[in-house]
Amino acid sequence: MSDSPNSPFNAADKDARGVQVDPELKFKYDSSDPAVGADLLAYYKSLLAAPPILVQRRGIAWAIVSRYRDCVEVLRDHKRFSSVNPNLPGTEDFDAFRGVPVMTFVDPPVHTRLRRVAAPSLAVRRIYDLEPRFRAICGAILDGWAGRREIDVVSELAVELPVRVFGFLLDIPERDYELVRSIGAPGKTLYTADFLASRHRYITELVKRRRAQSGGQDLISLAIAAHEAGEKINELELFGMVMVLVTGGISTTADSISGALYQMISRPQLLAQLRANPALAPNLVEENLRYDGPVQTLFRVTTEDVEVGGTPIPARTPVYVVAGAANRDPAVFSNPDEFDIMRDPNDHLGFGEGVHFCIGAAPARLQGKIAIQMMLERFPRLRIAHGWRPQYTVQAFGRGLASLPLRID
Ligand code: HEM
Repeated sequence: MSDSPNSPFNAADKDARGVQVDPELKFKYDSSDPAVGADLLAYYKSLLAAPPILVQRRGIAWAIVSRYRDCVEVLRDHKRFSSVNPNLPGTEDFDAFRGVPVMTFVDPPVHTRLRRVAAPSLAVRRIYDLEPRFRAICGAILDGWAGRREIDVVSELAVELPVRVFGFLLDIPERDYELVRSIGAPGKTLYTADFLASRHRYITELVKRRRAQSGGQDLISLAIAAHEAGEKINELELFGMVMVLVTGGISTTADSISGALYQMISRPQLLAQLRANPALAPNLVEENLRYDGPVQTLFRVTTEDVEVGGTPIPARTPVYVVAGAANRDPAVFSNPDEFDIMRDPNDHLGFGEGVHFCIGAAPARLQGKIAIQMMLERFPRLRIAHGWRPQYTVQAFGRGLASLPLRID
């Protein structure tokens, strides 16, 4: 890339391929970087003030796209911004599944085929029909707290609810829920070959049993039915499907539940508003996804030379799409730093955008709503334990509360 009048910087700082990079922002960008994590909001504000930038990371240029409209442009254009890992320096670790094909890391047409297999089982209608079942699961967790004065809502509800929901959706016996817990554990980003092999044995056995039964309504039986109806999926892809749903669905949902509860309980007026009108719980979930959602960045790679927001980006450049910054873009959200559950519209990018838009949005939204409403119903004096300060478990693409001790007496 030659120096261009559109370039947001002029200093001659070049990467290994001669691509010009911003001299001011050389740290590796991801939300696990302490320099970024220490003051995420200030960092986002500086990003939002400028067009996309190129920074150095492991010797090559990376593009950082953060303004809302630029992010949407990238996420809607899967032809020029691919989800396939290019295996460049620094991107190897993004493939938690070590090459097992999953919908997140493939482009159409393979993506379309894999997604079609899973979509019917997670469709909004079907999931909302399961609401009584999800409520019963949540109720059983809360029943277990009888006599307790304080609980950690992260480990004891926010993680436990999606673990049990997945146990139910996969129709596996409770004694095997540990398997779900181990796959979806927050903080897990790269699985060892041994770990994958042992899960592969278990899931292959499940698939064999489900094939023999036919007619089941669990995620695996429905995927097998879709396969038999023509959406072809092989055994390895089916294994990848279970893994990606469980990994994609547990720690994100957990972070969403604990984050929404934190925002609510730390604001007395908001807590009172939700108590008076629990039907606002879905608004709370949505606003938390915008304000401080579990997924802060998404990853793509350019397939050709492109220009985004006036910044030229060469082919084969890894791109960080900073959805967390876009969600605070004042060009789209008025008073973006205000937590306002009545925001309408609230077209945040917390679930992504385009063909990879979160396939699990319905179960995630439903679990968030149920967790908030049932906590309000059961505990009239909810408050945060004295002296607690928020600390985050940071992952490559997002973050969530490490703990949230609540007094429930
Ligand atoms: C509040 C909780 C959740 C959040 C914030 C979230 C966020 C996201 C985001 C931002 C994406 C887009 C990724 C990209 O474009 O590269 C995504 C995709 C995905 N999510 Fe979620 N997710 C949540 C819950 C779930 C659940 C419950 C499941 C499983 C049932 C799930 C499974 C997936 C899968 C498989 C994809 C890839 C979809 C595709 O490539 O077509 N997620 N999610």
